[in-house]
Amino acid sequence: MNRRELIRNLATGSVALFVVPAVLTSCAKDDPDPDPNPNPNPGVLTIDLTNAKYGSLVPDGGFYVDQGVIVINTGDGFIALSSVCTHQGCRVSYNHGNGNLPCPCHGSIFSTTGSVLHGPANSPLAKYVVVQEGDILTIVH
Ligand code: FES
Repeated sequence: MNRRELIRNLATGSVALFVVPAVLTSCAKDDPDPDPNPNPNPGVLTIDLTNAKYGSLVPDGGFYVDQGVIVINTGDGFIALSSVCTHQGCRVSYNHGNGNLPCPCHGSIFSTTGSVLHGPANSPLAKYVVVQEGDILTIVH
Protein backbone atom coordinates (compact mmCIF):
# COMPACT_ATOMS: atom_id res chain seq x y z
CA MET A 1 0.00 0.00 0.00
CA ASN A 2 1.50 3.31 -1.01
CA ARG A 3 0.89 6.66 0.65
CA ARG A 4 -1.90 7.64 -1.75
CA GLU A 5 -3.70 4.34 -1.20
CA LEU A 6 -3.28 4.68 2.59
CA ILE A 7 -4.85 8.16 2.56
CA ARG A 8 -7.70 6.92 0.38
CA ASN A 9 -8.28 3.93 2.68
CA LEU A 10 -8.20 6.14 5.77
CA ALA A 11 -10.82 8.33 4.18
CA THR A 12 -13.05 5.34 3.57
CA GLY A 13 -12.42 3.89 7.03
CA SER A 14 -11.03 0.53 5.98
CA VAL A 15 -7.66 1.09 7.75
CA ALA A 16 -9.33 2.43 10.89
CA LEU A 17 -10.57 -1.07 11.66
CA PHE A 18 -6.96 -2.09 12.28
CA VAL A 19 -5.61 1.08 13.89
CA VAL A 20 -8.33 1.92 16.42
CA PRO A 21 -8.27 -1.36 18.37
CA ALA A 22 -4.48 -1.13 18.76
CA VAL A 23 -4.74 2.42 20.12
CA LEU A 24 -7.54 1.55 22.53
CA THR A 25 -5.78 -1.46 24.02
CA SER A 26 -2.42 0.27 24.53
CA CYS A 27 -3.66 3.27 26.50
CA ALA A 28 -5.94 1.92 29.18
CA LYS A 29 -5.79 4.58 31.91
CA ASP A 30 -6.53 2.26 34.82
CA ASP A 31 -3.64 -0.13 34.16
CA PRO A 32 -1.32 -0.11 37.18
CA ASP A 33 2.27 0.87 36.51
CA PRO A 34 4.38 -2.26 36.45
CA ASP A 35 6.92 -2.52 39.27
CA PRO A 36 10.28 -2.08 37.52
CA ASN A 37 12.10 -4.02 40.23
CA PRO A 38 9.71 -6.40 41.99
CA ASN A 39 11.02 -8.24 45.01
CA PRO A 40 10.87 -11.93 44.11
CA ASN A 41 11.01 -12.92 47.80
CA PRO A 42 9.00 -10.61 50.08
CA GLY A 43 10.17 -11.21 53.62
CA VAL A 44 13.69 -12.01 52.49
CA LEU A 45 16.24 -9.22 52.22
CA THR A 46 19.31 -10.16 50.23
CA ILE A 47 22.25 -7.77 50.19
CA ASP A 48 25.30 -8.05 47.96
CA LEU A 49 28.01 -6.02 49.68
CA THR A 50 29.85 -5.60 46.36
CA ASN A 51 26.83 -3.76 44.90
CA ALA A 52 27.20 0.04 45.18
CA LYS A 53 23.53 0.21 46.20
CA TYR A 54 24.58 -1.14 49.60
CA GLY A 55 27.73 0.97 49.88
CA SER A 56 26.48 2.59 53.11
CA LEU A 57 26.90 -0.79 54.83
CA VAL A 58 30.58 -1.22 54.03
CA PRO A 59 32.18 1.10 56.62
CA ASP A 60 31.98 0.30 60.32
CA GLY A 61 28.93 2.03 61.70
CA GLY A 62 27.18 2.10 58.34
CA PHE A 63 23.60 1.02 57.95
CA TYR A 64 21.01 0.37 55.26
CA VAL A 65 17.21 0.39 55.54
CA ASP A 66 14.86 -1.56 53.28
CA GLN A 67 11.63 -3.56 53.66
CA GLY A 68 11.16 -2.25 57.22
CA VAL A 69 14.54 -3.67 58.24
CA ILE A 70 17.64 -1.78 59.36
CA VAL A 71 20.87 -3.66 58.69
CA ILE A 72 23.87 -2.36 60.61
CA ASN A 73 27.58 -2.91 60.28
CA THR A 74 28.59 -2.67 63.94
CA GLY A 75 32.26 -3.15 63.16
CA ASP A 76 32.07 -6.61 64.72
CA GLY A 77 29.63 -7.94 62.13
CA PHE A 78 26.18 -7.30 60.76
CA ILE A 79 22.95 -7.17 62.71
CA ALA A 80 19.36 -6.58 61.55
CA LEU A 81 16.36 -5.24 63.40
CA SER A 82 12.96 -3.86 62.53
CA SER A 83 13.38 -0.23 61.48
CA VAL A 84 9.82 0.59 62.62
CA CYS A 85 9.69 2.25 66.01
CA THR A 86 7.32 0.41 68.32
CA HIS A 87 5.95 3.68 69.69
CA GLN A 88 4.17 5.16 66.66
CA GLY A 89 5.92 3.70 63.66
CA CYS A 90 8.60 6.22 62.73
CA ARG A 91 11.81 4.93 61.21
CA VAL A 92 14.77 4.48 63.54
CA SER A 93 18.36 5.06 62.47
CA TYR A 94 21.70 3.97 63.89
CA ASN A 95 24.06 6.11 65.96
CA HIS A 96 27.42 4.37 65.79
CA GLY A 97 29.03 6.73 68.32
CA ASN A 98 26.48 5.76 70.97
CA GLY A 99 25.94 2.23 69.66
CA ASN A 100 22.17 2.58 69.69
CA LEU A 101 19.12 3.18 67.50
CA PRO A 102 17.37 6.51 68.14
CA CYS A 103 13.92 7.36 66.85
CA PRO A 104 13.67 10.94 65.55
CA CYS A 105 9.98 11.39 66.33
CA HIS A 106 9.61 11.30 70.12
CA GLY A 107 13.04 10.35 71.41
CA SER A 108 12.84 6.62 71.98
CA ILE A 109 16.20 4.87 71.94
CA PHE A 110 16.80 1.16 71.35
CA SER A 111 19.85 -0.99 71.94
CA THR A 112 21.41 -3.14 69.23
CA THR A 113 19.57 -6.10 70.75
CA GLY A 114 16.31 -4.22 70.12
CA SER A 115 15.53 -3.53 73.79
CA VAL A 116 14.15 -0.16 74.83
CA LEU A 117 16.78 2.07 76.46
CA HIS A 118 14.58 5.17 76.59
CA GLY A 119 10.82 5.64 76.03
CA PRO A 120 8.15 6.54 75.20
CA ALA A 121 8.37 3.22 73.31
CA ASN A 122 7.89 0.31 75.68
CA SER A 123 8.23 -2.65 73.31
CA PRO A 124 11.49 -3.84 71.77
CA LEU A 125 12.37 -3.81 68.09
CA ALA A 126 12.22 -7.23 66.44
CA LYS A 127 15.69 -8.62 65.79
CA TYR A 128 16.44 -10.84 62.81
CA VAL A 129 19.16 -13.37 62.05
CA VAL A 130 21.73 -12.28 59.48
CA VAL A 131 23.32 -15.08 57.48
CA GLN A 132 26.54 -14.04 55.76
CA GLU A 133 28.08 -16.07 52.96
CA GLY A 134 31.04 -14.17 51.57
CA ASP A 135 29.72 -10.81 50.39
CA ILE A 136 26.07 -11.85 50.53
CA LEU A 137 23.85 -11.13 53.53
CA THR A 138 20.47 -12.79 53.84
CA ILE A 139 17.89 -11.65 56.36
CA VAL A 140 14.52 -13.36 56.79
CA HIS A 141 12.08 -10.96 58.41
S1 FES B 1 7.48 6.95 66.94
FE1 FES B 1 9.43 6.53 67.76
S2 FES B 1 9.43 7.53 69.66
FE2 FES B 1 7.47 7.89 68.87
